[in-house]
Amino acid sequence: MLALLGGSPAKTKPFPSWPIWDDQERRAVNEVLESNVWWRTPGTRTKAFEEAFAEFHGARFGIACTNGTHALEIVLAAIGIRPGDEVIVPDYTFVATASAVLFAGAMPVMVDVTADTYCLDPALVERAITERTKAIIAVHMGGHPADLEALAAVAEKHNLLLVEDCAHAHGSEFQGKRVGNVGVAGTFSFQQSKLMTAGEGGVIICNDADVERKIRSVHDCGRLPGEWFYSHFMYGSNYRLSEWQGAILHVQLGRLDEQTARRHQNARLLDELLADVEGITPQRLDPRCGRNGHYAYIFHVDSAAFAGISTERFIEAMQAEGIPNQAAYPPVHALDMFQNGSYKQRLCPDQAAEPHSFLKAEFPVTDRAAWQTYWIPQFALLGDEQDMHEIVAAIRKIQQHAGDLAEK
Ligand SMILES: Cc1ncc(COP(=O)(O)O)c(C=O)c1O
Repeated sequence: MLALLGGSPAKTKPFPSWPIWDDQERRAVNEVLESNVWWRTPGTRTKAFEEAFAEFHGARFGIACTNGTHALEIVLAAIGIRPGDEVIVPDYTFVATASAVLFAGAMPVMVDVTADTYCLDPALVERAITERTKAIIAVHMGGHPADLEALAAVAEKHNLLLVEDCAHAHGSEFQGKRVGNVGVAGTFSFQQSKLMTAGEGGVIICNDADVERKIRSVHDCGRLPGEWFYSHFMYGSNYRLSEWQGAILHVQLGRLDEQTARRHQNARLLDELLADVEGITPQRLDPRCGRNGHYAYIFHVDSAAFAGISTERFIEAMQAEGIPNQAAYPPVHALDMFQNGSYKQRLCPDQAAEPHSFLKAEFPVTDRAAWQTYWIPQFALLGDEQDMHEIVAAIRKIQQHAGDLAEK
């Protein structure tokens, strides 16, 4: 019998808990405490971390900052996105990808994603370009890299800047390179659910020294390294990360490689085990993606193969079986701030007065992804083979007994 109806759960032992930490984090925090240097500016720990993170991703520069939302805001300010500009973003993403554009005073232009990887559709990106378009933000959804090859070609052809929102994709690889290096900059988040964490935090990687200088300046009140403390050369704010977070993240980075390999491997096992479960379609792994950081294992469920039960019911049933899972983001264009017009407050009057196509456009793939896909969170992918078998056993069990759950 289904656990939701009083049966015993399919899961027999707990998944690893998250975050994962041990005495190394404890020591790192204590060292910061006892050093009396808790502030990044004179400190060494956040600096050492950002350098190590950049090196791990094969980038020349790393600039740590307060969170992944601010990382996007900093990059957009540094590359000169301004009121009147348009920036293309996927409709299927966390609000930050679009709200960061609004914070620059520019218009986020939502575009649908591809039906297999749920990342920006390069053909639709090209159709959305206008003379105002200045940049494209690609999101590596759930850790799966967007089609950087095609997006870079579109960006180059139209003289646009490509930014990579890598909030889900620490350690992901595309065409042999770690993400964050194809675009002008890559932004990462260290919020608690992410692939490595200090509760909050972010980092930006880039390879161009001039871009690095601007990003570093924007993130530190417009200062420039080596200059007098009270000189402020450009528009900026205080987006600095503390030494506590830098110290913890450096330890977390030491685990990332092994954890990424494990998540990727477990996800491939799930692909294999789910291949013959009717109605289940996992996010496709593009063969150019050598390693998916897997912030989540994403799969579509055709409810017709599950007696027509609702998304909410499927989630409840999975949770009762002991499998953490959730629905994903609602479409960006459907968020209240876009539907009620409040997003216009950040735009210049001309731009605010224009008809905005997303209010009329259709986003069929995002709609399907938003309301009919499920995410198994990254920490579950740190389990063992038995854990993966039990995830699939839970799905099969729900399928077999779905009729008992069909809404009366
Ligand atoms: C795709 C995406 N971009 C940006 C962010 C923002 O990161 P943060 O929560 O660190 O501000 C998130 C966070 O969930 C995200 O999922």
